[in-house]
Amino acid sequence: MARMKDKVALITGGASGIGLSTANLMAQAGAKVVIADFNADGALQAAENIKAQGGEAVGIFLDAGNEASIKEAVEFTVQQFGQITTLFNNVGSTNLMKDQDVLNVDLDEWDRLMNVNLKSVLLGCRFAIPHMIEAGGGSIINTASMAGFTGDAVRVAYGASKAAVVNLTKYIATQYGKSNIRCNAVAPGLILTPAAKNNMPPEVLDIFAKYNALPYHGEPDDIGHTVLFLASDESKFITGQTIQVEGGHYIANPTVPDFEQYMSRNN
Ligand SMILES: NC(=O)c1ccc[n+]([C@@H]2O[C@H](COP(=O)([O-])OP(=O)(O)OC[C@H]3O[C@@H](n4cnc5c(N)ncnc54)[C@H](O)[C@@H]3O)[C@@H](O)[C@H]2O)c1
Repeated sequence: MARMKDKVALITGGASGIGLSTANLMAQAGAKVVIADFNADGALQAAENIKAQGGEAVGIFLDAGNEASIKEAVEFTVQQFGQITTLFNNVGSTNLMKDQDVLNVDLDEWDRLMNVNLKSVLLGCRFAIPHMIEAGGGSIINTASMAGFTGDAVRVAYGASKAAVVNLTKYIATQYGKSNIRCNAVAPGLILTPAAKNNMPPEVLDIFAKYNALPYHGEPDDIGHTVLFLASDESKFITGQTIQVEGGHYIANPTVPDFEQYMSRNN
């Protein structure tokens, strides 16, 4: 309970998946939590569930693509709970039909993703940091993605926006560290959120599992526990970092399977 005692957290995209897991874990650890989401009903329901278990939470509407809405969410958090110590910039979006390769990516979709995935992080920080300075410090966690570290056949806008989140994290950490504000990111690999489970056929999930070093898929709580650690004072000397939570999917030289076949053929 003490890990997040006296902390007030704003969690964007908190009605589902990674954000919902983190909201639950932070509330269980004693934080007061504001769950902000485009899906306002989902945010309200998530807050009700936390309250039913003895936690403190409120659900509100947020459009992370809209500057005024982000400002409103931060100000609401401060009015509701007196301060904001923790900001989890978690909203992220992509649309595979439009976010294609370099020659074909829809440019309106490119702009939308830079706005929702990247500018929302900047704006969340812009509005929260003055309150954090007033409160004596804080912890900001951004959701990047392993797509920000690797190339892929599609999702060029998503990948570029998430790579930018990784470096924006370092800028925030550099510029506000002396104000006792830490900023880190988490980079998930494939995580079995409801959206991922519904959108990916079993065959595609099997392809991902095949390349994990570990014999299982990632789950929302795997990210939630990492974010909780970065939000708590246990990580008080960690800033500017992006923690990759990806089951070892990206750690090996990609030629390993080919070489294993080569070795077995030639031994
Ligand atoms: N699930 C994965 O495999 C995976 C992998 C890498 C990175 N991520 C990142 O993790 C974050 C959370 O993803 P998730 O898998 O939990 O997704 P999810 O779809 O389960 O949840 C996302 C939540 O964000 C909300 N949302 C979407 N657009 C919004 C907007 N403009 N304003 C306010 N709320 C909005 C949705 O309503 C939803 O509740 C995203 O940034 C995503 O890019 C996910």
